[in-house]
Amino acid sequence: MADSFPPAQPHDPPREILPDVLYVHGSFRMGPGMTISRNMIVLRHQGELTLVNPIRMDAAGEKALEEYGTVKHVVRLGHLHGLDDPYCVDRFGAQFWSQAGGGEYPAPKPDVIIEDGTPAPVPDAEFILFHETKSPECTLLLRRHGGLLIGCDGLQHWESTSRCSLLAKGVCHAFGFMHPANIGPFWIKLMTKNGGSLRPDFERLLEHDFDNLVGAHGQYLKGGAKAALKKTVDRVFP
Ligand SMILES: [Fe+2]
Repeated sequence: MADSFPPAQPHDPPREILPDVLYVHGSFRMGPGMTISRNMIVLRHQGELTLVNPIRMDAAGEKALEEYGTVKHVVRLGHLHGLDDPYCVDRFGAQFWSQAGGGEYPAPKPDVIIEDGTPAPVPDAEFILFHETKSPECTLLLRRHGGLLIGCDGLQHWESTSRCSLLAKGVCHAFGFMHPANIGPFWIKLMTKNGGSLRPDFERLLEHDFDNLVGAHGQYLKGGAKAALKKTVDRVFP
């Protein structure tokens, strides 16, 4: 039955990348001819699911999700994202987590406002907030299986242009997206204050340990993520 929310956009079936962690590699249509990859991560704890960087899935995807567990939490990490947050909150009756400030997608209003020290919705995890960005963004670090650092636009691992349209593939290659554990090339321009630098935020991230990394665009990086991000920081902030 049709509803008033934006429809599901093409995506791969959910795939378990670590115990109790699902990865959904999907897409986002930005405009005519311009579609880029978009990722969601699902964390499971005692049968309860947390959707991070929410993506509306098709019926088969939702069936797989429901077989995996019960969605209880929906987490927005970056305020440039949010297209499918209202749908996911409504569809699953979930609690919505976000930093304060409406940004590009003012709905839904958060049930839990993410701040420094806000306990994460799953154990062995913590939010790490960017402090220097123009608009709110944070990461979620899962301290299991060597560590999984989940980002939104700030962290993007690009090893291929899967789920990108031809035009987007060209943009990704021309504008410096194609690096492991990258910092979003457009995001950094949008988010850096006049005369400011985001380097301290990334150096703070590098104080933590994580082998694996995934952002809201690109692919999942399994292994070597911290060393790859360190290399990126040195390249982006010479
Ligand atoms: Fe994005």
